[in-house]
Amino acid sequence: MNYSEKVMEHFNNPRNMGEIPDADGVGLVGNPVCGDMMKIFIKVNKDTEVIEDIKFKTFGCGAAIASSSMVTELIKDKGMTIDDALKITNKNVIEELDGLPPVKKHCSVLAEEGLQSAIEDYKKKKQKNG
Ligand code: FES
Repeated sequence: MNYSEKVMEHFNNPRNMGEIPDADGVGLVGNPVCGDMMKIFIKVNKDTEVIEDIKFKTFGCGAAIASSSMVTELIKDKGMTIDDALKITNKNVIEELDGLPPVKKHCSVLAEEGLQSAIEDYKKKKQKNG
């Protein structure tokens, strides 16, 4: 399978891998077909809603690791708010990675869904705590 240099680079040197113990939002998603899973942790500034920190743990293939690394880097580099981050799609992730092989497209979907699920969790917690 042919991977772009960017995919290989993110796979070999993943950015923001790990967990945030006191995260404001945590998202866990998986793909039932391949069995891969991705967990995303976010730390959000309550006043500005800027995502100040984001980390991931991916139990999965190289393309899923590269996708999660890329999505976390995008958010941090651009200083995105949760609203900006909600606009990120798996297509953006694929573009930033200079493409993914067709059978690996679903790996980038995990990054989109994991991020959305972490933001949903943050919003739910915020509502509860007022
Ligand atoms: Fe399923 Fe990559 S093969 S996430």
